[in-house]
Amino acid sequence: MNHKSAAFVTAIAMMFNLLSCQKEKDPVISIIPQPLNVTQTTGIFKLTPNVKIVVKDEPGPSDQAAFLKSRIQSATGFDPQIVKKSSGKRISLQIESGLEGTLGTEGYSLSVSKREVKILAATPAGVFYGIQTLLQLLPPDIFANKVIEGIKWNIPLVQITDKPRFVWRGFLLDVSRHFFPASYMYDVLDYMAMHKLNRFQMHLTDDQGWRVEIKKYPKLTEVGAWRVNREDQHWNSREVQKPGEKATYGGFYTQDDIRKFVAYAAQRNIVIIPEIEMPAHTTAALASYPEYSCTGSPLTVLPGGIWPCNNIYCAGKEETFTFLQDVLTEVIALFPSKYIHIGGDEADKSQWTKCPLCQKRIKAEGLKNEKELQSYFIRRIEKFLNSQGRQLIGWDEILEGGLAPNAAVMSWRGTQGGIDAAKAGHPVVMTPTSHCYFDYYQGNPDSEPLAIGGYLPLEKVYSFDPVPQGLSADEAKMILGAQANLWTEYVADTSHANYMTFPRLTALSEVCWTSPGQKNYDDFSLRLTRQLQRFDAMEIKYSKASEQKIILK
Ligand code: ACM
Ligand code: ZN
Repeated sequence: MNHKSAAFVTAIAMMFNLLSCQKEKDPVISIIPQPLNVTQTTGIFKLTPNVKIVVKDEPGPSDQAAFLKSRIQSATGFDPQIVKKSSGKRISLQIESGLEGTLGTEGYSLSVSKREVKILAATPAGVFYGIQTLLQLLPPDIFANKVIEGIKWNIPLVQITDKPRFVWRGFLLDVSRHFFPASYMYDVLDYMAMHKLNRFQMHLTDDQGWRVEIKKYPKLTEVGAWRVNREDQHWNSREVQKPGEKATYGGFYTQDDIRKFVAYAAQRNIVIIPEIEMPAHTTAALASYPEYSCTGSPLTVLPGGIWPCNNIYCAGKEETFTFLQDVLTEVIALFPSKYIHIGGDEADKSQWTKCPLCQKRIKAEGLKNEKELQSYFIRRIEKFLNSQGRQLIGWDEILEGGLAPNAAVMSWRGTQGGIDAAKAGHPVVMTPTSHCYFDYYQGNPDSEPLAIGGYLPLEKVYSFDPVPQGLSADEAKMILGAQANLWTEYVADTSHANYMTFPRLTALSEVCWTSPGQKNYDDFSLRLTRQLQRFDAMEIKYSKASEQKIILK
């Protein structure tokens, strides 16, 4: 090597050193969802084995401290002590209820100096979100579930204040069309928590499976949780169960499972909303207890698609309401959520037009038609839920025939249902198919796994604004937030579920959390690169379809 080229190599090496030094000193800040205010200064906090977690007050955020300790232990192998006081290198977690005026019930402030990371919030939820942000200030491997050696666990010096735009930041998983093991529910709750999502709707019942143990009606899971296995055939061409055939495909969650999900969720500031479908999407229930349909005819749990949804509960029989109230009584005892989702969508009412008892009910109640009979059904269920201190939420079809007085609406057939409900003073969660249906294709169908149809690429999810134009400020306040729904007709296992969910759920998290003025897709795309590294550390299989520059019509 001559002198000139040696000098050149040295210069390159110095530049490289400088760059890597720079990188060590000032790691790039890349947080999703984007916080309200971030101010970085020069320097780093080095997370080292001697770090302590300080929880000063009684009762302090001890669950949150345990969560942080466990994450640090898993990925770094360090064993940070949780203490009441320390003047050494520390992560301090502190609740100050007086901060609610500025930070709300889920916001936090996080400041990092060379010796102290300090998270302040008005609530444990806020502290938890401060911790989530702190984890994202660390290298992506902090999300690994095994010890990763050779990493400099550096945190940039920064001041962050942050709070969410919406109170409802939701994700629905359909566990009826395909059953997912209990272990996956904990994964989903972890995925949601890292995205600061806080409402997990479990679609527990449908035509293809009943997934929650109900002690008073054991056949709901003895019969209703199982169907014949036609997984080798297209969803819409599966023959129903034949006489003599055994139904062996499915599963359900025990009441113990559910209690554990609820507790695990609560530690992560997530409320689980149970969905018990009525009056339609009920073949699995009616296969178990045919006496609650109009005809009482025997049915079997469907192994695939059905359209229209005409195996529905009889609205004329008192026994139907006794059954549903009994089921809801057990559901309420399991799920502490304010809202109970009762479905309400896609009911084909042809059985009701032919059923003498349903027709008698229409007459006796002075109803105009079957739409009003559905409205009667939902109002009756609402009265029961309200008597138990709970609120009813349902799909936007519950607007038809007149909305129940205190009901909340989940707007899925576009946003008009949500607009109408908000104008009438009802709470609304926006989840239109156009932006929130994660069963739709996210890339070119030729190179994607078979999906139900549609096209919902990442950028379109990101572009969603849950507050539609044309609402007054007061009406806009009725929009609680947004929710992504993963329906699973075409999604049979957890790996495929993750593929459909990520990174679209990452985009949705910013829709729900970040103020509109702070949203920017190009900036999100840059930050997504780091998020995908976190997914790699967590061994989440995600879609790379957003990297394909295809435009579909
Ligand atoms: C729905 O997608 N039927 C709510
Ligand atoms: Zn009937």
